[in-house]
Amino acid sequence: MSSTCFDRIAELVTNRRELGDGSPLGLRRDAAVVVEDGEVVWVGDAGAAPATDDHRDLTGRCVLPAFVDSHSHLVFGGERVGEFAARMSGRAYTAGGIRTTIAATRAAPVEELRRRAGLLLAEMRRQGTGVVEIKSGYGAEVATERRSLEVAGELTAETTYLGAHVMGPEFADDPAGYVTLVTGEMLAACAPLARWVDVFVEDGAFDGDQARAILRAGAERGLGARVHANQLGPGPGVQVACEVGAASADHCTHLDARDVAALADSGTVATLVPGAEFSTRSPVYADGRRLMAAGVTVALATDCNPGTSYTTSMPFVIALAVRECGLTPSEAVWAATAGGAAALRREDVGHLGLGAAAWLSVLDAPSHQYLAYRPGVPLARLLTAPEGVTARAPGVGGPGSASQVASR
Ligand code: NIG
Ligand code: FE
Repeated sequence: MSSTCFDRIAELVTNRRELGDGSPLGLRRDAAVVVEDGEVVWVGDAGAAPATDDHRDLTGRCVLPAFVDSHSHLVFGGERVGEFAARMSGRAYTAGGIRTTIAATRAAPVEELRRRAGLLLAEMRRQGTGVVEIKSGYGAEVATERRSLEVAGELTAETTYLGAHVMGPEFADDPAGYVTLVTGEMLAACAPLARWVDVFVEDGAFDGDQARAILRAGAERGLGARVHANQLGPGPGVQVACEVGAASADHCTHLDARDVAALADSGTVATLVPGAEFSTRSPVYADGRRLMAAGVTVALATDCNPGTSYTTSMPFVIALAVRECGLTPSEAVWAATAGGAAALRREDVGHLGLGAAAWLSVLDAPSHQYLAYRPGVPLARLLTAPEGVTARAPGVGGPGSASQVASR
């Protein structure tokens, strides 16, 4: 048994209305929170907590649930900085770039995939992220998809089989054959290592009918559905996601009124990844304001990958979502925490209610609004993880370090 009180918190974001000011963020000023054996066990006023083994003073700082990054592609070989630079001088992004990373990933030894994915996860943790979803998708063949999921599974429980990222290069003239592989032998090899199945629905990737078949086959193996939907142009992605009851439709950049209505009428979360719009120099960003107005549950994620969004920073994504997607600073912080948890159908993370897993982050700032107000400034750090490993926050004493957290 080990307990820690984080005391004299300037602003505590609980994401539980009843624990705070009645807003979705459930804000409390001058607050304290007690963590015991990896769970939140007490939330209340500063100075009023029961006695604990350890006591940390967080005067002047904001504490919030660690970010839940519900969409990332951390397992890959190589990088594509030249492609990025070409886009910044006017070349358009196409899904074809994914094949460059497929070749590099197939060629990479597993230790290299593991080492580099671990470094990216450590980067995430240093910026305040707790739970992370990690996809395969740069194998497009059985062995590399499986190897990618083995690496992902060493880093997170939220693993996603994305055999349907693009058609494997060997199947350029046989898309039906590739769908047979993805729903057959590749799925059989990967399903035991995955919680989710995902499909990139887009011109140049998979169409609506192929996606339905792949998501259905995944469901038969017990995998929940997620969809890369409406990223580069209008299409059936969101409709398919809502139809099959996917946990999340991700990107949602090019939506029509029917898409917005389908999301509003479904339990499917819209996960916005404005880092991808930034890094592809997309002329449009997802319209978060329109989704919020329609009552859609919105999440934010990094989509960290070497092609369209090579960032691990949820604070950067929050700042973009405020500036470019029309979310308020408070909505963006909710979407990056509770929204991400909803997109992963997790009730134990993304909030600091009693019994929540003790993923807490701290800001070197007095309120959550500073995340968007001070873009590009490293304000957020992981404060504590449920396993009891403690990450050092700037200027805050106590054992441990972010890299210790990340190296687990
Ligand atoms: O989410 N859209 C599909 N997949 C990635 C891009 C992958 C890549 O370009 O390597 C995404 O943006
Ligand atoms: Fe993605």
